[in-house]
Amino acid sequence: MLMPCPFNGPVSGRTKDRLMATFNVLILGSGGREHALAWSITRSPLLGKLYIAPGNPGTEEFGENINLTPGRFDGPEPWFEALSKLISEKGIDLTVVGPEQPLVDGVTDYLEARGHKVFGPSKDAARLEGSKTFAKWLMHKYKIPTAESTSFSGETVLDDLEGWIRIDNQQWPVVIKADGLAAGKGVFICRNKNEALDHLRRIREDETLRKAATRVIVEEFMEGEEASLFAITDGRNARMLLSAQDHKRIGEGDTGLNTGGMGAYAPAPVVDKRMLSFIEDSILYPTLGAMQLEGYPYRGVLYLGLMITEEGPKVVEYNCRFGDPECQVLLPAMKSDLLEVMMATVNFELETVDVTMSDEHFCGVVMASGGYPEAYTKGAEISGVDRVSGDAVVFHSGTRLEDGKLYTNGGRVLTVVASGPDLKQAISNCYSEVDKITFDKAYYRRDIGAKGLNRS
Ligand code: AMP
Ligand code: GLY
Repeated sequence: MLMPCPFNGPVSGRTKDRLMATFNVLILGSGGREHALAWSITRSPLLGKLYIAPGNPGTEEFGENINLTPGRFDGPEPWFEALSKLISEKGIDLTVVGPEQPLVDGVTDYLEARGHKVFGPSKDAARLEGSKTFAKWLMHKYKIPTAESTSFSGETVLDDLEGWIRIDNQQWPVVIKADGLAAGKGVFICRNKNEALDHLRRIREDETLRKAATRVIVEEFMEGEEASLFAITDGRNARMLLSAQDHKRIGEGDTGLNTGGMGAYAPAPVVDKRMLSFIEDSILYPTLGAMQLEGYPYRGVLYLGLMITEEGPKVVEYNCRFGDPECQVLLPAMKSDLLEVMMATVNFELETVDVTMSDEHFCGVVMASGGYPEAYTKGAEISGVDRVSGDAVVFHSGTRLEDGKLYTNGGRVLTVVASGPDLKQAISNCYSEVDKITFDKAYYRRDIGAKGLNRS
């Protein structure tokens, strides 16, 4: 049975009238973001059959999970080949790539060269996320506001960095960033020389970090409030979704270790209408234009990680895919047909579709296994998901289904999303549903959205 669609009612029939065809879709990934993508795409009258590789127990409600897990650092070719074969066998018309690694590895280029349509940027364009030095270079060249920075590269990169750290009278704090993807572990905020040396030691000792740190950036620390903005673009046109705010730290009041994200809400009042239009003019379109001019037109979803500073919004980072958990609150807020928008994107026809977002407010709370982001145990039985109101949605991340029972199977377990006419009501509706779900050592932050409430 399909989950009810509590937020926006049925998708308009406009698309159906215009395009009578239906499309088979494959989503790559297995987290809450991919569950939200499946949830949203399933509402489209344009959908034929949906596949998710590898998916999770939540995505299985909407389509067929395929046991094909994206390869990682050991080289993409064998699984790209398996993927291409799967796409041909199943007659898939569109592949939607959830996570960044396959995009940075070049999955789009590989599949497009074999005649498949892919929602997600090319390998060159995905360098906006895959190489922080590339992103910095682009921003500096095209005067896109971001933190001042210095970069190190070459065989002696880490020794050179150490030399820089040891110079007397450096200005602290600074942010040290490994160039490449590092599973969220490559950014270090250093308040003083000792912390910087500590982080340098961590980079030297950790193989993933060392591989990501063939180049390193040292960046000015920016004060302000963070916000995430997402634009879907075919390279020429772009459609903005709502602004959102993630909560990256494990503890309430933004304390403790960094995580994949403990909750999100949208829209974020720190980005008001004027700010939004300023960001479009000073960051979004200059970035897309720059990519076009450099010969790497960007197609897919572009995620702007921003710091709203006293001097205005500045780019903290670009990501080449939807954020998790931002995706879980943004897609329920989308009134337009996501599949229609994605098809228009891959066909370079985005100017023919509008993206309309709800006027409501959305809150998503991540429930995690106690101990996360450090050691945690798996296998606790989850109860109460069936008691969640039809006005909310539960997106799975780290869950496992066995004999009809649901168990925890990861650090971030699920995201509960609810809406309301204002942020306060959205938050309250969301926590009422969270309180119905229990599992041993369940942990979640109680203050998701609080920053937005203070501001509004
Ligand atoms: P990133 O992986 O680049 O998103 O960085 C992770 C987190 O580190 C960001 O969400 C920010 O909270 C923080 N951060 C990164 N760069 C800076 C900066 N230059 N100033 C302040 N905070 C930063
Ligand atoms: N929400 C942060 C991320 O997806 O990287």
